[in-house]
Amino acid sequence: MTSMTPDREPACTGCSARRDFLRQAVVAASAIAGLSVAAPAQLLAALESPAGGRTIRYPLPAADGVSIDSRNEVILCRAAGSVFAFALSCPHQNTALRVMPKNAGFQCPRHKSKYQPNGTFVSGRATRNMDRLQIVREGDVLVVDPAVAFESDTDPAGWAAAKVTLT
Ligand code: FES
Repeated sequence: MTSMTPDREPACTGCSARRDFLRQAVVAASAIAGLSVAAPAQLLAALESPAGGRTIRYPLPAADGVSIDSRNEVILCRAAGSVFAFALSCPHQNTALRVMPKNAGFQCPRHKSKYQPNGTFVSGRATRNMDRLQIVREGDVLVVDPAVAFESDTDPAGWAAAKVTLT
């Protein structure tokens, strides 16, 4: 239904409801298809760390999936009993990585490198795994320090340990 008001464009009183319906339909269709929709990470707080950097606090994900905190350039991924925090940028030439459907991992849109959900390199031009960030668990909160990154080629032990194991 359309109504006219003075000095304004015609108002569409049904548009908001239609947009809400379409948004719900997309979410429902994604759920039915089993697709992993990367949701924005729910940020609890960004705090100064004792080392002078900044730590970021996120709620512990309740289920497997991926959230992206584009503002802080952090990927949070829960998969197979572990939670990882990754740098958003591809380790090859710093392009922002994307989530592949069905929790299949990550892909770089620039040169098509692919990575498993735990950040392990699969194929493409990159020469190492995705960079993992320091992450610790405090109850139901994950604390990530984006200034502390572990590169698998120069620090394989640090890279392997940079995760939270759920029990
Ligand atoms: S920038 Fe990602 S593979 Fe080249």
